[in-house]
Amino acid sequence: MSEISTDNMGDDKPAGGGPPLPPSSPPDAGGEPGPIMTAESLCYAYGDKTGCRNVGLEVWPGEILGLVGESGSGKTTVLKLLSGQLKPDSGTVRYADGSGTALDLHALPPAKKRLLQRTEMGFVHQNPRDGLNMIVSAGANIADRLLSSGARSYRGVRGTARDWLERVEIDGGRLDDRPGQYSGGMLQRLQIARNLVTGPRLVFLDEPTGGLDVSVQARLLDLLRKLAANLGLAAVLVTHDLAVARLLSQRLMVMRGGEIVESGLTDQVLDDPREPYTQLLVSSTLET
Ligand SMILES: Nc1ncnc2c1ncn2[C@@H]1O[C@H](COP(=O)(O)OP(=O)(O)OP(=O)(O)O)[C@@H](O)[C@H]1O
Ligand SMILES: [Mg+2]
Repeated sequence: MSEISTDNMGDDKPAGGGPPLPPSSPPDAGGEPGPIMTAESLCYAYGDKTGCRNVGLEVWPGEILGLVGESGSGKTTVLKLLSGQLKPDSGTVRYADGSGTALDLHALPPAKKRLLQRTEMGFVHQNPRDGLNMIVSAGANIADRLLSSGARSYRGVRGTARDWLERVEIDGGRLDDRPGQYSGGMLQRLQIARNLVTGPRLVFLDEPTGGLDVSVQARLLDLLRKLAANLGLAAVLVTHDLAVARLLSQRLMVMRGGEIVESGLTDQVLDDPREPYTQLLVSSTLET
């Protein structure tokens, strides 16, 4: 299994009704640890085009924060700023690392930032081909993150890669297949395995179920809920689909034109939206 070099961070709750409450609740969590990530006044422009404007948010340990909004509203831009793939024109992203140290993500030396991106963080792309190396085996895709985070034993790495393949419900016998031999749903699960293998604390999910048919979507959502709950992951989940947001996220932020227009507990935002734009979004979406 050879080491592969592409890692664009790729570039992800238990079954039952509704998402469980996060272990640490925002803001009145007396004595609890603080947010794992805090973004303030993030602005980013692509030339004269607004990517996002004045975006601030907190992600708390163990919670899934949903980010919804129409196409072009800035969701992917925000995810890339939070994950350190894009540098904001202004504003800050603070990350509390595993030892509890608050780090200014965009001021870190590039090697330190890359290490965090490949170990403590994960990024699941909407298009799995952006998050996978298609010319090496599935196993090598998973092993790559392990090797770059210090694993040395070939046998150990291979065993862990196989184990993770099975955890995302892919037959371990497919370890040496190239990703091109996988179906769309399997590719997305492989991308998730690749990201979770290093035990990240914070995962960014960009439309993880986009482009999948409904039955595959449901299984993947269930898998994500279980993994997030079992691993105590925090995640920022971008989705067009309000039903997906309702299923997975405890809190929700609504974006429009690069700005956050509404935020709150997911059920509150979806059942009793305050902003006319959110009302429109909710009423124009067929929710199940
Ligand atoms: N590489 C780019 N070059 C120029 N403009 C861009 C680029 N990427 C995004 N934009 C613009 O920035 C704005 C926000 O885009 P972004 O991709 O963040 O939206 P989004 O909410 O993720 O949309 P979608 O739901 O379609 O993925 C849009 O106006 C988009 O056209
Ligand atoms: Mg997007």
